[in-house]
Amino acid sequence: MIPFLTPEILRNPYPIYEMMRASQPVMYIEPMRFWSVFRFDHVRTVLSDSARFSSAGGRPPASQGTPAPGQRDGFSLITTDPPRHTQLRSLVNQAFTPKAVAALEPRIAELAHELLDRVSGTGKIDLIQDFAYPLPVIVIAELLGIPSGDRDRFKHWSDEVVASADTLIGGSASGSLQAHREMNEYFSGIIAERRKAPKDDLISALIAAEEGDFHLSEGDILSFCALLLVAGNETTTNLIGNAVLTLLEHPEELAKLRSRPELLPSAIEEVLRFRSPVQAMFRTANEDVELGGQVIPAGSRVVAFIGSANRDEEKFPDAARFDIERTPNGHIAFGHGIHFCLGAPLARLEARIALAAVLDRLPELARVNDEPLTPARGFIVHGVSSMPLRFRPQ
Ligand code: HEM
Repeated sequence: MIPFLTPEILRNPYPIYEMMRASQPVMYIEPMRFWSVFRFDHVRTVLSDSARFSSAGGRPPASQGTPAPGQRDGFSLITTDPPRHTQLRSLVNQAFTPKAVAALEPRIAELAHELLDRVSGTGKIDLIQDFAYPLPVIVIAELLGIPSGDRDRFKHWSDEVVASADTLIGGSASGSLQAHREMNEYFSGIIAERRKAPKDDLISALIAAEEGDFHLSEGDILSFCALLLVAGNETTTNLIGNAVLTLLEHPEELAKLRSRPELLPSAIEEVLRFRSPVQAMFRTANEDVELGGQVIPAGSRVVAFIGSANRDEEKFPDAARFDIERTPNGHIAFGHGIHFCLGAPLARLEARIALAAVLDRLPELARVNDEPLTPARGFIVHGVSSMPLRFRPQ
């Protein structure tokens, strides 16, 4: 763990970001051996200028050489550059379509209500453990076409894969290799079955995707499945958790949302800006790059602080104010450019359904006490790991 990342700072990194934007917006951070970029324009440049800032090998130096989940077969959408990235992204886009995502809406609503049914009579919920955490995992399992009887195993692998992604930010990865192996064996079996008898699921669609002579290999598909677990689960959990927490902290905005539910999509965009679930992404400079009066030398690791960019006063007037009606709201919580989040429509859909269900089913929702909440691990993912709440039992 990086020593100066205290729970207080992880819970509220915004005063530091503000200081950095004002005093040292592009800075080399010695203990972590990377360049950090804090202003909106610079962050957007680092994320989207893939010629000068590579996503390949863009892992933080704190890692002990552990390959990122999804990198084991030399492929992962998020860690490749063009032209390979262009080819992979276009194949994956054929399978992960807006239509496929929209079709999930009734099922996601059903799952959200099932999870709330379990607690609605008790008047108590851990918003993360009982709701925001299981929901995205089940949705991804169903999207991939995992039979419901295998869901617990899938959830276990998912936890391990997400935990191993943590090694990239200095954590530890116990048991994750074993889980990776088991998961890959399991998915290999499913891929073989779907090759013989395609179904209406994402794995069948990935097998079928083609571009000229090019298909995704089995290794490509396995890596993509692991990437979905890492990129899609904890992030969505934290979007839902951050939304509930932020609304509870801003009762006037919560009241407005209750009286005008049509504001829900715009409220979710504001949560994405105000408490971005992904606070930072890594790149590697391909050449010497001048940014904000500093020269970032070729080969340097660069961290683009999305969480800071989304609070930049130059871009967002009154940036520290949580305003569910903010327009325009050009946040970059899902990134920018060729690596723009593939799962953004799914994350938005899940958050909308989850929030609507929480507002509808949990009246008089409140924190059980004022104790500080435990932040999620590391500085990349931003949220809390547990959020005990009470409400009027139904
Ligand atoms: C990429 C954020 C949910 C799949 C990204 C990137 C960000 C991001 C910032 C850009 C990475 C970069 O530039 O290097 C988020 C947030 C989410 C979320 C904040 C939830 C609130 C999801 C979901 C999925 C997903 C639900 C899939 C089910 C991906 C994939 C990429 C990606 C596959 C890589 C795209 C590429 O490299 O072309 N996400 N994500 N994400 N996200 Fe998400």
